[in-house]
Amino acid sequence: MCGIFGYVGKRDNAATLVVDGLKKLEYRGYDSWGVSWCESGELKVKKSVGKISDVTEGEFSEVNSSLAIGHSRWATHGGVTEANAHPHLSFGGKVAVVHNGIIENYLELRKEIGEDKFVSDTDTEVIPNLIEKYLDEGFEEACKKAIAHLEGRFAFVAIECDSHKIIGARRGSPLILGVANGEYFLASDIPAFLESTNIVNYIDDGEMVVIDKKPRFYSIEDNIAIGKRDVEIEWEAENAEKGEFDHFMLKEIMEQKDTIRRAINQDEKEIKRVVEEIKKCRGCFFSGCGTAGKVCMTAEYFLSVIAKRHVNFAPASEFPIYHHFLRSESLLIVVSQSGETADVLEAMEVAKSKGAKVLSIVNVKGSSIARNSDFSLFINAGPEKAVASTKAATSQLALLMLIAYAIDGRLEEGKQILVETASKINDMLNPRFLTYIKRVAKKIKSAENSYIIGKASNYPMALEAAIKIQEVSYVHAEGFAGGELKHGPIALISEGTPCIALFANDEVKKDMLSNTIELKARGAYIIGIGPEKFDVFDEWIKVPDCLHASPIANLIPVQILAYYLATLRGCNPDMPRNLAKSVTVK
Ligand code: M6R
Repeated sequence: MCGIFGYVGKRDNAATLVVDGLKKLEYRGYDSWGVSWCESGELKVKKSVGKISDVTEGEFSEVNSSLAIGHSRWATHGGVTEANAHPHLSFGGKVAVVHNGIIENYLELRKEIGEDKFVSDTDTEVIPNLIEKYLDEGFEEACKKAIAHLEGRFAFVAIECDSHKIIGARRGSPLILGVANGEYFLASDIPAFLESTNIVNYIDDGEMVVIDKKPRFYSIEDNIAIGKRDVEIEWEAENAEKGEFDHFMLKEIMEQKDTIRRAINQDEKEIKRVVEEIKKCRGCFFSGCGTAGKVCMTAEYFLSVIAKRHVNFAPASEFPIYHHFLRSESLLIVVSQSGETADVLEAMEVAKSKGAKVLSIVNVKGSSIARNSDFSLFINAGPEKAVASTKAATSQLALLMLIAYAIDGRLEEGKQILVETASKINDMLNPRFLTYIKRVAKKIKSAENSYIIGKASNYPMALEAAIKIQEVSYVHAEGFAGGELKHGPIALISEGTPCIALFANDEVKKDMLSNTIELKARGAYIIGIGPEKFDVFDEWIKVPDCLHASPIANLIPVQILAYYLATLRGCNPDMPRNLAKSVTVK
């Protein structure tokens, strides 16, 4: 949520570098943007409502500066206006700040500083003003003093021209330092600077970095200097680009030809460790948000059906309420693509406060969730930039299914099924398949409502299908367990209502068929997704029979359908309204 980027180094086109970096972070927020830089000893600012991607090349070519910061915003406090866009300047114009997170006590701080002086409605504007208040003690000291007043989660980057320093600090929101030869990049996420360097220093919570010639790290609370290790990132810059595709979402959907195989390619020792922890714990909980939450729900089925083991699932935003059931023998398994989701971090804090262990299944190495877990498994899906999670979800599903097989002592069998699934998906994702789904999307693109049903492990996939359709196409979509329709939702069905039915070759197939027939009898337009064709289908999207991995195979055509629904309805699937890729606020 919100992309922040800062540069200091030997190049004098810092403002342009910042704009280029922000464009790579746009998935984090895209309602307004701004850049601030030092030129002739003064801070300059340019901000605007709208997308950073609309900034034309050359817009900052006249700027001569080697120190700049910028921000791409997802509004929390204050509407989408130029005044609320970051960077925010201190009243005296000495300090500029970009910020991601929420300063919870900003109302009190605004009162203390002088409410009438503020030019924006944001919580952020208190930060440059607190820094400026202490500036006589030096920029570095002033930042430390300012931080002592801040409550809540934040990552911020501040610049000041006299000292020509850039300072970054984090408590709960992501901030990473990219290190090149004499150049430094402070950003919310690695793709922002991947073109310039793949060497990073991870900044941990409660730490501050001060950069003039070289970076120096401090623990904020006790002011102790900290040594950092250079970490080499394996991602290539082009992995974070759209390449030949119109949208990241389609690119990432197509990458599923490869990502499932990568997800299950794990060190067996690590899988065994996870198995041991799950077997020995007393009370195993799964938690995640949105799509990752639906993956956790599917894991509940995988562990029950494949490993005959009972686990519990709660969405991360609801997890804290279960604290009564947590103890030191409990295990919390969290799933997150970004590794930065605030609700998940809070769930982890609750579990840890009870002495429980936390295992995370994450895509982004070095992320807050990975770093705050007792141990982590990585799905290795590469950067996922579209707001709609696609390849990360199927990778998470594959890894969790593998774990379920491993718990049952059948790791090799699970691996075999998943390797075959990966190869079947590779065959399925051909141009004909996409064209066919686009044709189905054309038929239903004007519908106002759509429903998705599934049973057993395909029930959470029905819920996930609804998220995909809602978030990118804005068509109202709801997912249900097939058997639940007759208890209420069937009243919503009328002539021609699109209903997607997710089928697997499993023991609930017959019941699913009955539920689908019930929908058809009320006039629904049935889009069947599964390995077998039934007469009740108006459209059949054929997927390979992948046994227990059917949720993976069934989800992919839904992702494609959602993508085409979005593009046919004129929506940009990579930047859905009101959303951001990583939700770092509660
Ligand atoms: O990064 P995370 O996996 O923790 O993100 C969780 C959700 O915010 C995310 O899955 C969200 O629901 C996606 N936009 C869905 O496509």
